[in-house]
Amino acid sequence: MSSESASTPNWPEWPREGLSRIPYWVYSDAALYAREQERIFAGQSWNYVALEGEIPNAGDWRRTWVGDRSVIVVRDAKNEIHVLENRCAHRGVQFCQTHLGHGTEFMCPYHQWTYNLEGSLVGVPFRRGIQKKGGMPAEFDMKQHGLRKLSVARRHGVIFASFAQDMPDLGDYLTPPILELFDRVFDGRKLKVLGYSRQQTPANWKLMFENIKDPYHASLLHVFLLSFGLNRADAPNRIVIDPTGRHAAGMSWRAEQKRTEDNKEMRSLIEGLKLQGDSMLQPMREYERYTICLMTIWPNMIVQQQSNTLAIRQLVTRGPQAFELAWTFFGYESDDAEMDLRRLRQANLMGPAGFVSIDDSEVLGFTQQGVARAPEAAGVVEMDGHGWAEEADHAITESELRAFYQAYRAIMDI
Ligand SMILES: [Fe+2]
Repeated sequence: MSSESASTPNWPEWPREGLSRIPYWVYSDAALYAREQERIFAGQSWNYVALEGEIPNAGDWRRTWVGDRSVIVVRDAKNEIHVLENRCAHRGVQFCQTHLGHGTEFMCPYHQWTYNLEGSLVGVPFRRGIQKKGGMPAEFDMKQHGLRKLSVARRHGVIFASFAQDMPDLGDYLTPPILELFDRVFDGRKLKVLGYSRQQTPANWKLMFENIKDPYHASLLHVFLLSFGLNRADAPNRIVIDPTGRHAAGMSWRAEQKRTEDNKEMRSLIEGLKLQGDSMLQPMREYERYTICLMTIWPNMIVQQQSNTLAIRQLVTRGPQAFELAWTFFGYESDDAEMDLRRLRQANLMGPAGFVSIDDSEVLGFTQQGVARAPEAAGVVEMDGHGWAEEADHAITESELRAFYQAYRAIMDI
């Protein structure tokens, strides 16, 4: 028994209904959050960290996060990509404080311990003391004091990292049905970053994942998606869940902008809604099959293809009751200026003030306000039954949530 399990906190039993309940203590318990950091984000997971196109040249680096730990993704002189924990080996200082940068080494501001781009310690001021007084012991071995290095995996320009050293191949981790959809957007073409946005939401990180894994809320909450037919449950839909339950994807086709028998319960649908400037809603058919595909990749990545706007949303945990969502909007290097503009205009649907996403961040904040005050109660997730299947041909389901919590409980041992 590890010391961690010996001091296992007393969170309550999971409700006896099993997968069709989500107890509210999972959204605010501090000890549970600590275990999530250890077992999920710092455990056997491939975490999304950056795009290769963000660090195109030797010496380029990007600071980012794995769970709530800061890491640096850096390209060295030999074109190798390393992911290093942003924590000085001397006194633990989070030495890198800028989003993107370029250089030949990292120097901690406190006592100027210096590391090369591979994370090896190359400089310790006053190592030999001054005038033979003080200094480090003779046996101090610089090789033993580098930065902590994470495992790295890359696919079609996307970089993942793991604190675990014995990770499966990324393709095996994603599993074939998810890999196929991943490669639909990340098809090997060089990616071009179009912009960033970041927002902090006062809600537990799992609520964000649940939001994307819940395809049916879109037909009730989002006036924009509904009214303009961008994502609606009365259009054809498809759900895919990987065999482990961790990852999932929801796909759909654009619907007609009109009232029918099948959408009469969608109260937020405004008939005849028009925009003064409709350039935001002029999508161009670009991909095979679906016009929208939203993927959740365990444990921190959401891939969004909504018409022509493409984005990665990276989940960064900020304690049990807050998360940051870091959006990277992108296209392909081969896109022309018109396509760049089209992607950017449609990006107005998303991000902190996006016409669609603003609904989600607000409702997730409301959710946290409700669940944090009632840890003894539980959410009901019975839409489309009590279990889950790897495939569904409709969106009126909460099966992705049940699959997620099956995987979550196994990994967390609860
Ligand atoms: Fe939503």
